[in-house]
Amino acid sequence: MKMHLASEQLSGLAVDLLAVCAVDDQTSKEKDARPQPALLTSDAALQSAASAVLASGEFKAAANETLLLHAPAGLAAKRLLIVGLGKRAKATTHAVRTAAGTSVRFCKPRTLRNLAFALPEGLDVASSAQAAAEGAMLADFDPDTYRSDRKDLGLHACTLVAADGQLAAAQTGFEEGMIFAEAQNFARVQVNEPPNVLTPTVLGQRAAEMAQAAGLKWDVYSSEKLHELKMGAFWAVAKGSEEPPALIVLTYEPEGYNAATYNGPVVGLVGKGITFDTGGISIKPADGMEKMKYDMAGSAAMLGAMHAIARLKPQVKVICVVCSAENMPDGKAYKPGDIATSMPDGAKPGKSIEIINTDAEGRLVLADGLTYARQLGCTHLIDAATLTGACVVALGMVNAGAFSNDDATFRQFESAYEITGEKFWRLPLGDEYFDLIRSDIADIKNTGGRWGGAVTAAEFLKVFVADTPWIHLDIAGMAWIEDSRPYIAKGPSGVAVRTIAEWVRTFETTTKP
Ligand code: BES
Ligand code: MN
Ligand code: ZN
Repeated sequence: MKMHLASEQLSGLAVDLLAVCAVDDQTSKEKDARPQPALLTSDAALQSAASAVLASGEFKAAANETLLLHAPAGLAAKRLLIVGLGKRAKATTHAVRTAAGTSVRFCKPRTLRNLAFALPEGLDVASSAQAAAEGAMLADFDPDTYRSDRKDLGLHACTLVAADGQLAAAQTGFEEGMIFAEAQNFARVQVNEPPNVLTPTVLGQRAAEMAQAAGLKWDVYSSEKLHELKMGAFWAVAKGSEEPPALIVLTYEPEGYNAATYNGPVVGLVGKGITFDTGGISIKPADGMEKMKYDMAGSAAMLGAMHAIARLKPQVKVICVVCSAENMPDGKAYKPGDIATSMPDGAKPGKSIEIINTDAEGRLVLADGLTYARQLGCTHLIDAATLTGACVVALGMVNAGAFSNDDATFRQFESAYEITGEKFWRLPLGDEYFDLIRSDIADIKNTGGRWGGAVTAAEFLKVFVADTPWIHLDIAGMAWIEDSRPYIAKGPSGVAVRTIAEWVRTFETTTKP
């Protein structure tokens, strides 16, 4: 789908579908208060084409509600789609994002090829242009990559139309929206791949290709490097598979970067990249196991964020560390009762870890990834992982879990997700939780029992970040969309890509490094 930004008279656009947003101006809370839908455009021809249907009361302008008019009078467009943003007070940038997505997904099954989406008047132009570009691009993604009868249901072109005189204000937002959405779709493509295609080695190749194209530095290592660095926790998981692990390191250096003089922050992005999680010897039930191909969504989120960062070019150094392996049962697989030793932390020896359950593998690969990121000089850390079913129990598929050892850093993260519209909910950490992962035989154990499972997993990771300000995102419930929505397909969501990239920008140093 080609995306364009233009400023033209809406009534003159000869497209298959012209989409325009509407809000509900009814402020009364009375049960039988009639909705008062109003179009967010000053185009008189559009207002008149829609006036009868808006007066009918058939359309409430609820969020993502749609109403289609064929051959609208006075318009060159073949169809007019009115898309609701909800009550005027709630018609935020995020509502524009989903409305643009709803418009795109309205076209796809109907094989409508050209869409024009009128940027709503009355909202901030730059942020609506960005949100609409994101919403449209994200909606264009479908997960049916491997269907042999895959029909071209695609939209050919989507034009975002700014009101008269607003084109310049919309331009940067539009460009950034494209960057964010393309990065998120890159992540979704990887997450969608079947586990026989996307092995750790292939994830490494794709990361390298992306890095090369985006102008990032990159290294992809395998088993030898894990041994060299004494990554005993990562290796414990990796050794049960015929597929070798991949340790992927991407580096973004800001313009003018000089290693000898740079004293700004170094942001570390660490991703769980389990390309298939059988559970290992503590094997998972067969039911739904195929979904465990998305156990690399945390690493895809980090690679996607790096994709965006390479194009946004913030003035801050960023290092991405992805720990990728398959978690398999095998004669060489690690077992409950084993002791694994994590990588040494500078002069300090690694931590001894009693393995209780081989299905708690994500925290093991991340333990070494977080330690390594610090060794590479990261001053701030964020990790993303499909880490626990317990987080899904706690928050469902509405919010991702977020944890942090530093309030100021978390506030920066909050400001980022307020912009991106993604939902995260902070969960607690605390010594009482850490007590649950104390081991009788070793420093710590890899599970903390049934209760508070998302928190004990986070407490486990916290051991490996030492005093570094850190955020942990548990995206187990959010990385895969179970049912399609009007604005997005079911399948891989690409959650956290945009928020992580936006958060990285909050570290921009004002002076050149
Ligand atoms: N990858 C899973 C977590 C998961 C569950 C992701 C559901 C997506 C959807 C993780 O490796 C895992 O198996 N966690 C265990 C930990 C337990 C053994 C302590 C879990 O949550 O059951
Ligand atoms: Mn597991
Ligand atoms: Zn897992």
